Amino acid sequence: MTNQKHDLFAEIARLKKEKNAIILAHYYQEPDIQDLADEIGDSLALARAAQKTQAKIILFCGVHFMAEGAKILNPQSKVLMPDLRAGCSLSDSCPPEQFRAYRNQHPDHFVVSYINCSAEIKAQSDVICTSSNAVQIVNRVPKDRPILFAPDRNLGAWVEKQTGRKLLKWQGACIVHETFSQRKLIDLQVRHPDAELIAHPECEPELLQLAHFIGSTSALLGYVGKSAKAAFIVATEEGILHQMRKNHPEKFFIPAPPNHACACNECPFMRLNTLEKVYTTLRDESPEITMTEDLRLRALRPLERMMEWSH
Ligand code: 13P
Ligand code: SF4
Repeated sequence: MTNQKHDLFAEIARLKKEKNAIILAHYYQEPDIQDLADEIGDSLALARAAQKTQAKIILFCGVHFMAEGAKILNPQSKVLMPDLRAGCSLSDSCPPEQFRAYRNQHPDHFVVSYINCSAEIKAQSDVICTSSNAVQIVNRVPKDRPILFAPDRNLGAWVEKQTGRKLLKWQGACIVHETFSQRKLIDLQVRHPDAELIAHPECEPELLQLAHFIGSTSALLGYVGKSAKAAFIVATEEGILHQMRKNHPEKFFIPAPPNHACACNECPFMRLNTLEKVYTTLRDESPEITMTEDLRLRALRPLERMMEWSH
C-alpha cells in the first residue's frame, strides 16, 4: 500500500470513529472501498444493514437508488454518498411520469418493482424485490392478480420462467449486463471447458440460457464456494471478482467479456466513487441524500412489504 493510500485509510477510520459512521459498500465498488467497508453485500443485505444500524451516519458506497433506499428505511441516520451522480441506467430507464401513465393503463395489476428504481417509482409500487428475493416475492402475489413488473425486462423474463407466472414487463435494462458478448462467451467456454458460467439475472435471456448458475451478487459469491469446480466465468460487474478472489484464492475467475474492447463490464456509475471521495464525503458530511417525508413514507410501504415477504 502506498503511503498516501495508507494515510487515507487511517483518516477514514479516524473520522468513522469520531462521527459514529458506518460504511456500507456494494460488491461492484472498487477493491479499496470494499476493503474499508464495515459491511459489503448485495442490494438486499445492504438495505437490511441500513435499516438496522444505530450509526449517526451511513456512508453508502454504491449507487443513488441504494443510498436513497437506506434513507427511506432509516430516516434517523444521515445518509451520505461519495458522488450524487452515481446513478443507474436501469433506474433511469423508468421515468416516473411515463411509469404513472403505464400503470394507469393497467389499474388491475399488482406492481412489483425491482429495487433498482427511484423513490418515485417505489412510491408507485405495491411491493419491491431484489435479485435475491424476486422469485419469492412474485410467488407471494395473490394468484388472482395480474402482475406488472418493472423496470428490468431481463430479470422479469427470468422470474417468469422460475415462477410460471406471466408478467407484464416494463422494457428497461442495465447497460452493463446487456453488454456481454454471447459469441465471445462461447469462445471462452471452448477454451475453458471445465469452467462454469455463472450469471446475474440482469443479463439477457440468451446468455442466461448458457449459465450453470444464476443469482444475485451474494448468491454468485456463495455459489463459487459451494461448487466443486475450480474455475468460473463470471457474467456480472467485474467488482465482484475482488471478493471471489479474496475468499477463494485457490480458484480461478474469468470476467465475462463485453462486446467491444472496452471496460464496459465495469459499471460507470459505481466507479464514480473513489477512496478520495469517501474521505472528503465523511469529512464534510456531504453530499447527503434528502427527500420529502411524504415521498419517503410512500416509498417505505412497498419496501417494508418486501422485508415482511422475504424473511
Ligand atoms: P445485487 O442486488 O445482486 O447486488 O444487484 C445489484 C445491481 O445493481 C446489479 O446490477
Ligand atoms: Fe445499475 Fe447496471 Fe450499474 Fe447495477 S450494474 S448499478 S443495474 S447500471
